[in-house]
Amino acid sequence: MTLSVTREIAKLRGEIERHNYLYYVVNQPELTDAEYDALYRKLEEIEAKHPELITPDSPTQRVGSEPSQSFASIKHSIAMLSFGNAFDADGLRDFDRRVCSQLGVEQITYVAELKLDGLAVELVYQDGLLVNGSTRGDGRIGEDVLANLRTIRSIPLRLRDADSPVPSLLEVRGEVFIEKQAFATLNRQREADELPPFANPRNLAAGTLRQLDARVTAGRSLSIYCYDVGLVEGITIESQQQLLDILPKLGLRVNPRYRSCSGIEQVIGFYGDILDSRQALPYEADGIVVKVDSFAARETLGTVSRSPRWAIAGKFPAAQGITTLKDIVVSVGRTGALTPVAVLEPVRIQGVEISSATLHNEDEILRKDIRIGDTVVVERAGDVIPKIARSMPELRTGDERLFVMPTTCPVCGSHIVRVETEAAHRCLNTTCPARFKQSVLHFISKGGLDVEGMGPQLIAQLVDGGIVSSLADLLRLDRDTLIGLERFGPQSADNLLAALDSSKKVSLGRFLFALGIPGVGAHLAELLARHFDNLDSLVQAGEEELASLHEIGPLSAHAISTFFANKQSRQTIRDLLDAGLTLEAPSAESEAGALAGQRFVFTGSLSSMTRSEAGERVKSLGGIVASSVSKTTQYVVLGENPGSKADKAREAGVSLLTEDEFLQLLESHE
Ligand code: IVH
Repeated sequence: MTLSVTREIAKLRGEIERHNYLYYVVNQPELTDAEYDALYRKLEEIEAKHPELITPDSPTQRVGSEPSQSFASIKHSIAMLSFGNAFDADGLRDFDRRVCSQLGVEQITYVAELKLDGLAVELVYQDGLLVNGSTRGDGRIGEDVLANLRTIRSIPLRLRDADSPVPSLLEVRGEVFIEKQAFATLNRQREADELPPFANPRNLAAGTLRQLDARVTAGRSLSIYCYDVGLVEGITIESQQQLLDILPKLGLRVNPRYRSCSGIEQVIGFYGDILDSRQALPYEADGIVVKVDSFAARETLGTVSRSPRWAIAGKFPAAQGITTLKDIVVSVGRTGALTPVAVLEPVRIQGVEISSATLHNEDEILRKDIRIGDTVVVERAGDVIPKIARSMPELRTGDERLFVMPTTCPVCGSHIVRVETEAAHRCLNTTCPARFKQSVLHFISKGGLDVEGMGPQLIAQLVDGGIVSSLADLLRLDRDTLIGLERFGPQSADNLLAALDSSKKVSLGRFLFALGIPGVGAHLAELLARHFDNLDSLVQAGEEELASLHEIGPLSAHAISTFFANKQSRQTIRDLLDAGLTLEAPSAESEAGALAGQRFVFTGSLSSMTRSEAGERVKSLGGIVASSVSKTTQYVVLGENPGSKADKAREAGVSLLTEDEFLQLLESHE
């Protein structure tokens, strides 16, 4: 009996996977949706009767039933890199010149692909079975999102072995994204459910993959296109073209819109074609990706900082739309700064509906001569908040109105002050509810306590309802209060309390950032935490000591010491600690810094800083500055008129960095 059931199950699974492949990968379905569903249900029924026969690669196992608690870290065996950017044809030609001259050739073959606006992931197949799946993370370490990735139908749980030998190990990388139409449908649904819509497809893909409950991921139509590999064992791949041929044979989806190009001029042709037609693409693309085809040539070219020398992104210019500026409203930020926000007649740009844009400050409105009622050009560049590029005065009817900054705060009614030395107008009332809501948002944001599942709407509810009137109140929330809120079930309450609980243990650096000390961003907060080690010594430090620290200017030193001298700030900190917040000792890693143990040697003079400043910055990230090149040197930084150390580095095969590349490396870690 079991034998025939086993056979039937195997057959059904094979059929379902074949139809998944036909439907999701090659887009040639043979079954109607109803027929497919019937097949799927049949398998479900048999498996329900014989749970002992359920295997992890069964198509029914794509949806994880139990939400996982959080995401474990996964180290990529080969780092997932990012690209340098070119913004036009000349930028691409410069890239080509560098590639050809380094390889000593006249012309080279490239593969040009689309740069999709989604989230990069890595899938690991061992002997054909999907065993790991992670986000790119910081390139070195990502999050384990296998349960969520398994719900994406275009990701095979097992590689196909019909048309190509299955590698014993395949680490394949690709972009998880959502098509424009599915995105719009989902956002309409969310609005109907009174949930905030996702700002763009990329946010949606990222947020969805980081869902704790895989059933939610399964409900959103995410797709994948694969484009790169990490470790591969058991088969040999020698070029990008070969990779793009093999992947679909293994059942992995590849974007068919790519071009093999003999030389950079053909790449530029591809760039132009996509730029002209991208509105009609079913998904968002923010540029093209140009890759040297031959893997052997890539080896020769190598990688610098985190970008390979063999690839570049050709970014598209910011997309623009034209619409009417209906009104200008004013929002109040955490520091009390008033920001004028443009209320627009909704306009679709790159498939995203834009109905508001930032105007920064009053001066900018005057400088750009923007009036309420004007026809305006709106610009959207990638993830950045849309902005108004210019007004079109030639289309004025005479009904337009000038904008005037209010003299009282639109939220608390306090008098507004314009600080002499800056462009900002401010509400100085520290208890202004608008300011407080923004402080709470900052407090729980990613760089701060990183409380998951808490957004602006909930905070507004809590603050407006008088439930939260200090940061510490947030940590004292209880289940009954939360359940008493509108649209808040017991499950959401438990999730939020669990999130709050795990956020109560926080590193000093994050805590300092979360407090919102004027001028203290994530980097400075981390620096202070590393220098002072504990809160007490920081609170006690005088302005002079602060100013003596590398990277802290006199203004920041003043702001920091003023903050800690303030009674109200001290009380806030005491209350938070009383409410259960605990400061973790700095971890070995953050203490060690991102460049821990890496040896740098400088040669020649730098133009943007002195050698000793450069050395300080390396040291502040845990790196070591050495005076001569040896086997243990990681990088030699080339200034102007470099000496013999440069030749020595070349001989020893040590990575050479130009000043720009060195700065990029520092910035990516600071
Ligand atoms: S290849 C250097 N190919 O771009 C090799 N990446 O800036 C990197 N991306 O995080 C991977 N489309 O999310 C590659 N056709 C494509 C891509 C692509 C988009 C993204 C990917 C990565 C980022 C790097």
